[in-house]
Amino acid sequence: MTLWGGRFETPPDEAMWRFTVDVSDRRLLAVDVAGSTAHATMIYEAGLIDDAEHTALTGGLARVAAEAAAGEFEWRATDEDVHTAVERRLGELVGDVAGKLHTGRSRNDQVALDLRLYLREAAAERATGLSRFASMLVDKAEEAGERIVAAYTHLQQAQAVPLAHHLLAYAWMLLRDRGRFGDVARRLDESPLGAGAAAGSSLPLDPDRVAGLLGFGSVFANSLDAVGSRDTVAEYVFCCAQAMTHLSRLAEEVVLWATDEFGWAEVDDAHATGSSALPHKKNPDIAELVRGKAATLVGDLAAVLALQKGLPLAYNRDLQEDKRLVFHADDVLAGALDAFGAMVAAMTITPPGPGPWVGALDLAEALVARGVPFREAHHAVGRLVATLVVRGASLTDATDEDLTTADPRFEHGDADVVSPTESVRSRTTSGAGSHASVAAQIGRLRELLS
Ligand code: ARG
Repeated sequence: MTLWGGRFETPPDEAMWRFTVDVSDRRLLAVDVAGSTAHATMIYEAGLIDDAEHTALTGGLARVAAEAAAGEFEWRATDEDVHTAVERRLGELVGDVAGKLHTGRSRNDQVALDLRLYLREAAAERATGLSRFASMLVDKAEEAGERIVAAYTHLQQAQAVPLAHHLLAYAWMLLRDRGRFGDVARRLDESPLGAGAAAGSSLPLDPDRVAGLLGFGSVFANSLDAVGSRDTVAEYVFCCAQAMTHLSRLAEEVVLWATDEFGWAEVDDAHATGSSALPHKKNPDIAELVRGKAATLVGDLAAVLALQKGLPLAYNRDLQEDKRLVFHADDVLAGALDAFGAMVAAMTITPPGPGPWVGALDLAEALVARGVPFREAHHAVGRLVATLVVRGASLTDATDEDLTTADPRFEHGDADVVSPTESVRSRTTSGAGSHASVAAQIGRLRELLS
């Protein structure tokens, strides 16, 4: 069934139908019915339908909602979209009065409404998933105790830090991602219903009332904007893509950590996969797929932006493609939060301590503390490193004599500062890689995540 047969002489061409119908909007069923129910009440209160008609429509819609909730709603290949399917089913249930439901409404404002209703709920769920993942990382950080690892720059060992500090870096990223879902939810909180096809209606509609019934905080100010814009959808996809990108960075680390070469982590059996050919293999596929799927979300974001860039106002059918993209991005993120969260939670993370060079900056800072310009101190330690490398020794082997040869301003005892434990202990500024900072971060994160 189409909602627009009147002006056409022939039925739709089959290829046209196959090309233009997109069933990915079927998941909007529940919110579509909720929106229609509120609309029915609004047009009733506006005097556009009578008591009996209102009762018939809302009663019928309640039955459609029940069918949807029970997974019993029957779709037809002839339903052009979710909106058509609901109106068709309503007609089967309540007869011709179903034809009054679309009073003062177009599928253009209807689909814009449905998307906002759907994404509003999804944003809350994704925020919860991100909180859960971040809390799990805080637990892992707590478990890590005072274990020290190398912090890397350029994937070369840089400075000693608590393992917990490294894990908490991801918790902070995910906390910001959670905040972004809160931000987009605020912009989604505007009802477009009443905008109609493009310019609203001559009927005495009450967009504020219907917005109130659906729990929206505000109502569209411009009908063309309301039906023709998808920036909030793009923003939602960005929220997903950015969160997924953060997970992908962690995933890349997990893949590295699980190698024999790194030896930082052991993936739990239930969250690893085997090889059909190599009997000894235990592969971190979840992490690899997080990385791989993150790439597809970057594609979704590019696509949802490209979708809008050439569109004249207001609604254009191109916009139908937004749903496939935003649902894909949202589904992938939801799945990654579950599967990857469980994988990281079950992982044993017991990295080796840092290599012998990570105290180089601390040694330079010992000189700086006694007034030596940093550039000179840097140069002195660089000279010391070069000498040690030639000798096949490392920084932790350096003697007082090695130090004073590199720079006479070194003093007895300076060699001690290069130990990772000492290095971490000596940091006192907030947010730095020290145990005190980690304790403060854990406290703050627990507060923010509770
Ligand atoms: N399936 C359409 C979409 O997702 C619904 C709106 C259709 N509007 C129209 N005028 N054809 O965009």
